[in-house]
Amino acid sequence: MAKGEKSIGIGLCGLGTVGGGTFNLLAEGQKEIVRRTAVDIKIVQVACLIDNPACDLSHVKVTRDVFDVVNNPDVDIVVELIGGTDLARQLVLAAIAQGKHLVTANKALIATHGDEIFAAAQQRGIMVCFEAAIAGAIPVVKAIREGLAADRITWLAGIINGTSNFILTEMEEKHRDFDDVLAEAQRLGYAEADPAFDIEGIDAAHKLSILSSIAFGVPINFDSVYTEGIAKITQQDISYASELGYRIKHLGISRLTEDGIELRVHPTLIPAKDMLANVNGAMNAVLVHSDAAGNTMYYGAGAGSKPTASAVVADIIDVVRHMDSAPEKRTPYLGFQAESILDQDVLPIEKVRCAYYLRVEVLDKTGVMASISTILSNNLISIEALIQKEASEFLNGLTKAHVPIVIITNRIVEASLNKAIAEIEALDDINGEVTRIRVEALEGDHG
Ligand code: HSE
Repeated sequence: MAKGEKSIGIGLCGLGTVGGGTFNLLAEGQKEIVRRTAVDIKIVQVACLIDNPACDLSHVKVTRDVFDVVNNPDVDIVVELIGGTDLARQLVLAAIAQGKHLVTANKALIATHGDEIFAAAQQRGIMVCFEAAIAGAIPVVKAIREGLAADRITWLAGIINGTSNFILTEMEEKHRDFDDVLAEAQRLGYAEADPAFDIEGIDAAHKLSILSSIAFGVPINFDSVYTEGIAKITQQDISYASELGYRIKHLGISRLTEDGIELRVHPTLIPAKDMLANVNGAMNAVLVHSDAAGNTMYYGAGAGSKPTASAVVADIIDVVRHMDSAPEKRTPYLGFQAESILDQDVLPIEKVRCAYYLRVEVLDKTGVMASISTILSNNLISIEALIQKEASEFLNGLTKAHVPIVIITNRIVEASLNKAIAEIEALDDINGEVTRIRVEALEGDHG
């Protein structure tokens, strides 16, 4: 250690995909980190259930019990990378009680226990950093909380689950099978321990609830996020969307409206020329609209060992830089002073307005299209675009008597669409349920 450098001890809990990446990045980047901080940041203890063969643990104390790390007097910063919520919550609260600063990549933990953790940490003057919890390597928490601190954010929309984006991209570009791509996402370390969190939209909902909180200064509202995953998206819908000039992306959207905050995660058709539509593979992007800055967009690797480790190590550096400053001078956890965080109603999905892609399989006979048009118009819904396929063009398991009709509607309140869909599904000449995917034109939307 050079003269004048101080040393800070890290306790690393978890040595999986992100933990292993963090361990190695701290070792590889040591010289650069000293150049930036004049501090020697050393991992003094690791807690993991099984050793990670990618990490050389020969010079570090290894324990199986995470609480040994918390109790180690040489640990100044606890890095929580074990995932899950129950043990992670106990670990984090124990670390706070011991006066240790915290870095975590755990979106589920922050989304479900963030309020409790931040309150406990504030009482003790403890820093809690969670940049790696959202959008992997992209410093989007810092960008929103600090870079846009002068601005009033009105909406944000993002591709915030790398696994879902990887699956949709591979399905579209290479016509690959859903399960096959998911297995690859697991091998590449993108997917959660339980990949249902990715494909059912829960992981994106965790992240969106945190983003919305730091954007609007509202409590973390994970339980109120409307959540739909990508499991029902078919090759057929991807291809019809493309014919209509759209791509299907899994988006998290949060917007301030006069009636409340929109908080929704679902597959979405967006114009194919939009930047968000061209964010592919495991990449993430978050588009933010604010009054003064207008649209700003943040792009980068959303998952994986090294990209996520990059955000974890940057947070460790941030803690090292600010740990000696007075707690009240630090950036608040959620970007707003705790007493200024305002509860706001979350708009139920039935009250949200957007356009829709509808796919209906109908008997190939005269009058069916007229019946559907009548139902839509009776519900004040207009048709913006329409594709009607010939029976012979359509083979996917349907009898030749059925043909798909694909419609893009105008922007309407979801409750009206629900009513129209129920009436369409009650028609005799309809096969199965109506497929509905929301449509947004965000980059042209400055509202
Ligand atoms: N499973 C997550 C994803 C990892 O696919 O985005 C990064 O949070």
